[in-house]
Amino acid sequence: MKYPPEPFRIKTIEAITRTTDWERLAIIQDAGFNVFNIPAEKIYIDLLTDSGTSAMSDNQWAGMMLGDESYAGSKNYFHFEKMIHKIFGFKYVIPTHQGRVAENLLFSTILKDKPGLVIPNNNHFDTTRANVEYNGGIATDLVVDIAKDTQVLDNFKGNIDLKKLTALIEEVGAERIPIGMLTITNNSGGGQPVSMENIRGTSELLHKHGIPFFIDACRFAENAYFIKTREPGYRDKSIMDIANEMFSYADGCTMSAKKDGLVNMGGFFATNNEELAQQITNRLILIEGFPTYGGLAGRDLEAIARGLEEVLHEDYLAYRISQVEELGDRLIDAGVPILRPAGGHAIYLDAKGFLPHIPQSQFPGIALTVALYTHAGIRAVEIGSLMFAHKDPITGEVQYPDLELVRLAIPRRVYTNSQMQYVAENIIEIYETRTAIRGYDIEYEAAVLRHFTARLKPRS
Ligand code: F0G
Repeated sequence: MKYPPEPFRIKTIEAITRTTDWERLAIIQDAGFNVFNIPAEKIYIDLLTDSGTSAMSDNQWAGMMLGDESYAGSKNYFHFEKMIHKIFGFKYVIPTHQGRVAENLLFSTILKDKPGLVIPNNNHFDTTRANVEYNGGIATDLVVDIAKDTQVLDNFKGNIDLKKLTALIEEVGAERIPIGMLTITNNSGGGQPVSMENIRGTSELLHKHGIPFFIDACRFAENAYFIKTREPGYRDKSIMDIANEMFSYADGCTMSAKKDGLVNMGGFFATNNEELAQQITNRLILIEGFPTYGGLAGRDLEAIARGLEEVLHEDYLAYRISQVEELGDRLIDAGVPILRPAGGHAIYLDAKGFLPHIPQSQFPGIALTVALYTHAGIRAVEIGSLMFAHKDPITGEVQYPDLELVRLAIPRRVYTNSQMQYVAENIIEIYETRTAIRGYDIEYEAAVLRHFTARLKPRS
């Protein structure tokens, strides 16, 4: 079966309401044409993010009732630690309340008082980049070149370019690279997976130069499923075996459990390096809490432990990946330009191709997010000029990003396939009437991270 059906049935539901066209026009105007400003209750299908938006299972909810809220040594911590040992294999496990805290702990420790150190990655996610840069480091993206072409089909467009990594090590010197990283799957690069061969190659290259290797593991199970289905030699291996192998090459990882932990809040840092674990634990106590809870309740740790077990089920992953793929296929069949192939957690619309009559200076990605909302109550996120265009500090000229994307991130186990069909049909309708869509001007913008709070107005 090309698109395997849901391997679950629905036991409890959350009502969502459909607003009228007129209501949505008033709402988007009040929101300054920025979908971040819309009350979530006024959204019909919310594809803003796959982070912290998963539906938990009955098994996870049952586990929540077994939360042991002891300050120190909660039994749920030991279950959480056991699962992480089993899947990731790292010796030291440090819970955090979400992924970016794990990143903050790592970079504030390894970059402390040493400005100008370089961190290579396939593509840093924006919080990872921010944590590197805030701590005085230089975040360098070395993804393979084909990742920049939205139409090239390749199994592993998330791979790091090992030639670029070799050149970087030669250029700056291994002593200025405290760690190297891979983000699996590569969220900033379209949710594309990284192959086992590339993970192994990255590990060998870094270790040859004495550089530790870390993985951003947010979507590790989706990545493992792509390896199983796309990489020679892995078809008969279990997802657990593949995950074990992926992490066996690394010295540690950061993870936001809000993705493949199948929970609404949580994360962790894990490593084999005792000294690093000790330094990070000391900082953890300062900013998150005691080492056996790290900013989470006991019940949250239990939900993550159970989520990590469930996310490895192959029937879940087959359904998950194919639900996203099916949305992509429906759009491709109708000629809608999307980043190809479909990512693991999201479809990325190519706003430049969708709205070629709107120049980058007039935010085609924003125009598309507004159309998705006003037409159908769907919320997506612009990953284009509002997020990334910036003035060159020397010439003062505005630098635009290569790609203008709109991400439709699919929450895990949340929307039915008929809701996904609704999404596809409405995008196709918008595509058929796209020439009527206008560009936008900014009315208000903050100095940093302007996309969250900007207010815009349509051009007349
Ligand atoms: N790394 C990656 C690859 C991510 O996608 C995210 C979050 C983080 C780290 C940070 O984790 O949110 O728990 O602090 N991505 C979300 C998204 C926000 O919408 O893609 P966090």
